[in-house]
Order: sequence, then structure tokens, then C-alpha cells
Amino acid sequence: MSLAGKKILLGISGSIAAYKIPLLVRLLVKDGAEVKVIMTPTARDFVTPLTLSTLSKNPVLSVPFDPDDGSWNSHVELGNWADVMLIAPASATTLAKMASGISDNLLITTYLAAKCPVFFAPAMDLDMYLHPSTQANIARLISYGNFLIAPKEGELASGLCGAGRLEEPDEIFKILSSYFEKQLSLKGLSFLITAGPTIEAIDPVRYISNHSSGKMGYALALEAAERGARVTVVSGPVSIKADHPNITVIDVKSAQDMLDAADELFSTCNVFIAAAAVADYRPSVFSDKKIKKNYGNKQVAIELTTNPDILATLSAKKQQGQVVVGFALETNNALENAKIKLESKKLDMIVMNTLEDQGAGFQSDLNKVTMILRDGEQKETPLLSKSMIASMIIQTIVRSFPLQSQNL
Ligand code: CTP
Repeated sequence: MSLAGKKILLGISGSIAAYKIPLLVRLLVKDGAEVKVIMTPTARDFVTPLTLSTLSKNPVLSVPFDPDDGSWNSHVELGNWADVMLIAPASATTLAKMASGISDNLLITTYLAAKCPVFFAPAMDLDMYLHPSTQANIARLISYGNFLIAPKEGELASGLCGAGRLEEPDEIFKILSSYFEKQLSLKGLSFLITAGPTIEAIDPVRYISNHSSGKMGYALALEAAERGARVTVVSGPVSIKADHPNITVIDVKSAQDMLDAADELFSTCNVFIAAAAVADYRPSVFSDKKIKKNYGNKQVAIELTTNPDILATLSAKKQQGQVVVGFALETNNALENAKIKLESKKLDMIVMNTLEDQGAGFQSDLNKVTMILRDGEQKETPLLSKSMIASMIIQTIVRSFPLQSQNL
């Protein structure tokens, strides 16, 4: 796959393996990528900025600002600009700073600000690489969702032999190419996602609803869209916006509206994900006038009627080749209840979350889930950002089911 137009931010830190990086820059630029290079101060001892700026056709950045003219290299802008950040070679010091957020140079501040996927390719001497602190830092960086490009075994600059040798530039190039190829793995497929809460009107002023922010559903939509799928989100009232040309949002309010909108689209979608927190009940009677308070009545009862189960209704219409994924929010006997929902709603996969994990759940930017597949396979994630969780869910769908646009 060609890297034409891909924006790659390349961070170089102080390791002798930096001498290989000009070759990598050459490969990336020749393939059409736009490359911006950030060097740590130590990296400049191993390879010259002139070589890298010539090959990348961009000035090499090393400092947050130029003290002579005050010109400013914004780490936030750089982080936003990139489709991918690659830190190669990542020295032991840089790994430690990345792992603990010690942002004392432009490379680390940009890494912390970057919203794009980050790949890191460690390179150092054998004993440094094997040291428990280096290994712990690598494990932490992986747990934050960064992608490790593991060093190879071989002869090291010190003369020692073993792990610590930077992966070869042509292999790093292939890893990035296959990453972008995978990004388009959903091209031609259509996703239907319900998201957010539903609101069930009592009268023109009042309603019953829940705390759902829609963040998980929208994160799933963005992830699928970034991988090339066409996505329709049938969304209850939320304050977030979808910002991707592949995403269409249909705004609804009640569970019945949500079902009606999703039902129209279901037969043409390849994947249906029910991420909405649908109100299970609605008031039996909608009063078209505001209900007046009556202090004579100490207690007031609102009679409720069951709402349709959107997921179960649509799943019952599933055709061959379609994949249906539900969520299960559980507070007790979580796994057992989630498995019952998987069976009773005839799902291909259920994503279980509980309100027990601190920091996860409604309104939060974080989540921790267990994915349960029909064949019994279970995958538990750590507590991660909802966008990382979305990426893992979509990845699991891609890996577990044969998705083909011509199936429908
Ligand atoms: N769901 C739905 N329509 C409903 C209720 C739930 O589409 N009326 C979907 C949710 O979007 C979610 C899954 O069903 O994907 C499970 O929702 P959850 O609230 O966990 O469970 P319920 O089926 O409502 O059961 P309970 O509230 O008893 O746990």
C-alpha cells in the first residue's frame, strides 16, 4: 500500500542506531509520505539535522522555541498534524520519559500531546534493554496503547550479541505500510451504530432518561470510519459531535424513534452495534399539557410501559453475513448476565462493562470491558480511553468475523 499523503512524525532519540534513520526517511518520502522529524538534543550527536532535513524536505525540530526570534514549535499542533508518530530509535531514557510523562524536550511533549497512534522502536545495548526498568517501561507504554516495534537480536554496537538492535528501516517501513493498509480494512462496509441515551417524554417539559454521554458509541463510529467504513449513528440526545466525512448521524429522542430509524437501515448494514443506553420503559401516557403539581398528593405514580428492545428486534432479522454486537451494562453477576444477553438476543458478540471499575463508565472518557464471543472466547481489556477500547472492539470484530460487502 502506498503511503502517499500520510503524515508521519518521526521522533529520533539518542542511540547509535539513529544512523539508520536517514534510510527510513528516504523510504517513507519516496513512497509519498510527508515526514516531519523531531530530534532530542542527544540524537543530534549521532546523526545530523542537515541530513534529515534534506531527506525529509522539512526543517528538523529540536526545541520548543527559538530563543533568538521566539518562533514556536507547537507540540500540540505537531501532535494533531500527524497520522502516525514513530519514535525510532527509542533510547532507554526516552522510553522512561515517555512512560512517566517527563516532558523535558520537544519529542516527549509532542508524544504526550499526540492523538494519533504511536509506534516506538527501542534500540540500546543488551544489558540496558534487559534491565527490569526498561522492560517495565516498555510494558507500561504498551498498556497505554502504544505499538512496540520490538528490537531484533544480533550484533550490537558495543560488540555484545543479543536483543537491542533497532528493527531494520525496511521492516519499519513495512510495519507502517501494513498499519495504514489495515486502516482501510473496512472500506466498502457499512456500520450501523446506536449511541447515547433515549429520552421518554412524560409531558412537554419532563422526561425519563439516563446518564449516557454517547462517548462509547461515537468512539466506535470514528474508529470504523477511520478504517474506511460508511457509518450511520442513530443517536439519542448527546452533546458530542461526529467529525468524520464517513459518518452520518440521525438524531432521535425516544426508544421507538431509535428503533424506527435503525430498522430502516438494518437490512443494508454489515455490522450493527447497539451501544445506546435505551430506556427500558416509557410513560404509558404522554400528557400533551404540562402536568400541574398538586400539593394535595404527597405521592405521585407514573405508570410505565416497556419499550421495544431495539437490539433483540433487529437481531431477530439478521441475515447471513451480518454481524450484530450488543453491550451489557451489569452491576452484579456481570459475566453470567452478559452471557444470558448474548444468547437471548442472538448476538455474535457482547461487550460487557460494569460500573465497578473506578473511572470507567457513564460520562467518563475511560472504559474497561470484557468482550464475549459466541464461541465462548473472552477478551478483557485494561482501563483505557474509550477510543482505545473502540479500536480493540473493532479490531476484534474484524479478526473474528468474515466481513464482506458483497454478502448483502
Ligand atoms: N438495548 C436495546 N433496546 C433496549 C434495551 C437495550 O437495544 N430497549 C440494547 C443496548 O443498546 C445494549 C443491550 O441491549 O446493547 C443491553 O442493554 P442493557 O441495558 O445492558 O440490558 P437490558 O437488555 O436493557 O437488560 P437489563 O436492563 O435488565 O440489564
